[in-house]
Amino acid sequence: MAGHVLVTGGTGYIGSHTVVLLVEAGYRVTIVDSLCNSSAGALSRIAAITGKPDAVTFVQLDLRDRAGVTALFAATPFDGVIHFAALKAVGESRAKPLLYYDNNLGGTLVLLQAMADAGCKTLVFSSSCTVYGDGVPPLSEDSPTGLTTNAYASSKLITEQMLADVCRCDPTWRVCILRYFNPVGAHPSGLIGEDPRGVPNCLMPYVLQVLVGRLEKLTVFGKDYATRDGTAIRDYIHVVDVARGHLDALAWMRKQLEAAKAAGGATGLLEYFNFGTGTGSTVLELVAALEKASGKKVPMVIGPARAGDVPAAYANIEKVRRASAAPLTHSGELTHTHTTVFCRRAACWAGARSTPSTTARGTHGTGRAKTRAGTRCR
Ligand code: NAD
Ligand code: WQD
Repeated sequence: MAGHVLVTGGTGYIGSHTVVLLVEAGYRVTIVDSLCNSSAGALSRIAAITGKPDAVTFVQLDLRDRAGVTALFAATPFDGVIHFAALKAVGESRAKPLLYYDNNLGGTLVLLQAMADAGCKTLVFSSSCTVYGDGVPPLSEDSPTGLTTNAYASSKLITEQMLADVCRCDPTWRVCILRYFNPVGAHPSGLIGEDPRGVPNCLMPYVLQVLVGRLEKLTVFGKDYATRDGTAIRDYIHVVDVARGHLDALAWMRKQLEAAKAAGGATGLLEYFNFGTGTGSTVLELVAALEKASGKKVPMVIGPARAGDVPAAYANIEKVRRASAAPLTHSGELTHTHTTVFCRRAACWAGARSTPSTTARGTHGTGRAKTRAGTRCR
């Protein structure tokens, strides 16, 4: 048995993909999720993919519920925590900053206090490339952070600072901060994927909804950027690679711990890793990849640039590569060829959800909508 991991936000988009891999790797998993942006339907889908329904325990709980979280740690000796749970809609965070500070910082504070009290001090935290603000790409882990323009981004930055303070005062904590760039795609089973509520804000789910006829056309936000085709550049990474990186981070931390113990050195660590591919794609390139993968045309118009958007953000993944002996390899393995594959999988996920056998409206993340179980997307 690889250990027992608490996964906060484990019924959400990235969380559910990670839980699948954890279970497949032999971990016991407890998911804590309030279901504020996901559905319990994800649990049966995870069980269908892994064939191990008993490997996952689900606790519906808001992380801000101090008594509930404390009781959870008192009842189970977790070997580590992967902390996904957060609200993540940038626009909403501009309109409701206090909600974002309350949920993302309040929930994390309760979690860290419960972990400290229980002596469980191994944490993998979901951060974001948004902490780099409008930094100049390629962005490496030591690129300057700050100058955030919304409460979501600020909540990630403040949480990173919170974790640095905790590690400074108690050097027995082992923390990996993972800064994801743009996770996209779906599990090859077609059973779990991204399914935002309402009209999607992000490019990939928006284009998928155009492809399946749910939305009429894509508006490209700006074509006057100083990029190869005038549209903005992002680093799109397959969600399964992001998920796998969490298992690598756990393994890497375990290895560091063993090495430190053998050397009689300090066992604590705080490390930052970029989870991107190291390659940027423009909006038009991503659309072209999706068109190729689906065999359909995406109707589009050019609109003004979106407020707050940066022209280009992509990762320098040298640090992940260097840690690869550890190994944290997977986030560096994607290529443009792979782009076509993951776009096909994601298009398949969206297509399956829009067939008559699906329910009309799923929830965010790995929602209630029924797909045709067993549909394989390759
Ligand atoms: P998601 O919304 O699909 O999953 C988050 C889950 O957390 C949801 O299931 C939600 O119900 C739960 N949750 C939120 N607040 C909670 C609380 N207070 N208590 C308990 N559960 C709570 O989002 P995702 O895309 O899977 O993102 C996971 C993490 O990765 C988030 O921290 C997000 O900020 C970060 N991230 C995501 C992206 C992305 O593009 N998806 C990029 C960078 C970072
Ligand atoms: C990608 C590109 C848009 C929609 C988000 C979060 C950020 C972080 C990373 C979580 C941009 C363009 C989009 C559309 C378009 N996530 N676009 N038409 O901008 O990198 O940011 O992911 O931590 O916090 O905000 O991703 O998918 O929204 O946009 O032209 O309808 O697609 O302008 O250039 P982004 P995105």
